[in-house]
Amino acid sequence: MSNRTFTMIKPDAMKNGHAGLIIDRIIKEGFRIVALKQTKLSAEKAGEFYAVHKARPFYGELVAFMSSGIIIAAILEKDNAVTSFRELIGATNPAQAAEGTIRKLFATSLGENAIHGSDSDENAAIEGAFFFSALEQF
Ligand code: RTP
Ligand code: MG
Repeated sequence: MSNRTFTMIKPDAMKNGHAGLIIDRIIKEGFRIVALKQTKLSAEKAGEFYAVHKARPFYGELVAFMSSGIIIAAILEKDNAVTSFRELIGATNPAQAAEGTIRKLFATSLGENAIHGSDSDENAAIEGAFFFSALEQF
């Protein structure tokens, strides 16, 4: 069954000029763009988005990084979207990401790892609604 995931191209990949190649790859892998925008998170909004990690030692660094520059946010559709997209982006730490994955190709470090992908259908819906109203989803 076709379903949805949510992604962000993170500030490092945007600054390094990788957004075009990343979006091209996502489309070539068969994901349909349901919604897409360029935006910038305030520290408050980044903290809210990653609130699940609030107690973790890297939370402050993560919030500072995710609010440090422009991002692209998107909702994507494909069969088995969440799992399929996590496979495409690769492991959180690019040093452990499989060859050919987006993080292997474009991420620089564990903290600055180029791209986000939702980890469950439930979170994909929550995260998509965080950035897009129903009127912006096609
Ligand atoms: P994301 O949510 O961004 O797609 O990443 P993920 O699921 O692969 O990893 P997650 O555990 O959700 O962690 C969120 C982001 O926090 C940063 N991180 N830093 N220094 C560290 O030990 C550490 N661990 C995680 C990463 O940038 C990760 O993407
Ligand atoms: Mg995560």
